[in-house]
Amino acid sequence: MNNLNHSISIFIGNIPPSKELFLKLENAFLVADTHQIIEIVSLKSNIEIELRGWARLRGHLYLGRENLKEQYSYKIQKTSKNSFTSKPAWDKKMKGINSSNPKLKDLNLSDEILSKAPEDNGLLTRGIVTQEGTPRYDFELSHKELVWSEPVSVLYEEGKNLQWNATTDIAWNEIPNLNPVLEKAVCQIMTYLVENEFSALYIPGKFISKINPYYMEIPLFLSSLMNDEARHIEVFTKRANANGGGFQYSSEVTQRSLYSLFQEDDYIKSSFLLHVMGEGTFVDLLNFLEKYMPDEATKKIIKLSKRDEMRHVAYGMEHVKSAIEQNPKRINSLKNTAFKRKEFMDEVNSESSILLESLAILAGGSDEPQAYKKGFDLVEELKEKMNTNRIKRLIDIGMDEDLANDISKVHTPNFM
Ligand SMILES: [Fe+2]
Ligand SMILES: [Fe+2]
Repeated sequence: MNNLNHSISIFIGNIPPSKELFLKLENAFLVADTHQIIEIVSLKSNIEIELRGWARLRGHLYLGRENLKEQYSYKIQKTSKNSFTSKPAWDKKMKGINSSNPKLKDLNLSDEILSKAPEDNGLLTRGIVTQEGTPRYDFELSHKELVWSEPVSVLYEEGKNLQWNATTDIAWNEIPNLNPVLEKAVCQIMTYLVENEFSALYIPGKFISKINPYYMEIPLFLSSLMNDEARHIEVFTKRANANGGGFQYSSEVTQRSLYSLFQEDDYIKSSFLLHVMGEGTFVDLLNFLEKYMPDEATKKIIKLSKRDEMRHVAYGMEHVKSAIEQNPKRINSLKNTAFKRKEFMDEVNSESSILLESLAILAGGSDEPQAYKKGFDLVEELKEKMNTNRIKRLIDIGMDEDLANDISKVHTPNFM
């Protein structure tokens, strides 16, 4: 018996043949390789019958007993097939997620991210070893290039560091009673913001369960993004109600625009429409609102929301940019998506007129003819600025200037 190699020894001391002993054996054999010999070291000299019986029951080969100094060595060889195709790797530990962990950040960890998630990757992520027979989920988004955005781990950390609380971080008591015309305009703007925030919450929600968790950072980031959107819905609702005004009107244009965004089932196209085109334009709108809101508390609401939105835009920009880099033909399909959406929007052929008037009143400071006219001009300027910045973003993700101009021009009059 002495010449038999074994690589696994289990020390069981005084434990008699029992449930707890066999649980240990089951697991040792489960993770061992076929033909591997497992040594069970016991203080008991008389557990041979039970071990032999257990081995036979499990289809393993009982090899015999050997006397050690004060203990006994029982050896059993695994003969059943392997349950796991690989072993956990000690040095592969989610580099991105760990870069902010002080205990792990200096270790030289490798984290190879495959371009396609393994087929047997269940509802688990890189580095977890899967048992044979694990159910197959068939995630629709199982390729890295369909979902990945390189700064995602940094953005995720930033999102956590910059969380805020819509209840306690806003000085609600300091919101003044505005002139009713201005207050009504603010309430109309808040109504519009809430509608748009709902689409920003629901659209990632639609995709999150389609993303293979092998690319764990993406669903984690999207869930933090969704938390941001929930907070935006909350804070804009609270502001609409702060002076008793409450929600105002929703226009068909806005709902139609958001509907066409929601209908998009391709994740890259959706990311393009929502983050690059929509939220990017939204950031310009929030800049405008921050500038013209008459009170500091409401300015802060807008400012904090804008900071979140900029992070969402950053995710989408890198996502779509790298998707284009890896397949330049995608530019054409993004263009088609934008134009198809325009056709759908053209069926109503108008702007969000109620919103635009409210924006003009806000920027002008009142609905007195002079102020209103000034405000209206400022809104026109805003639209120009939105267009210029949209073109810049489209060029940034890899489009040429002419195409960027064309696509920006057909962007929804709803801004998002
Ligand atoms: Fe938002
Ligand atoms: Fe957002």
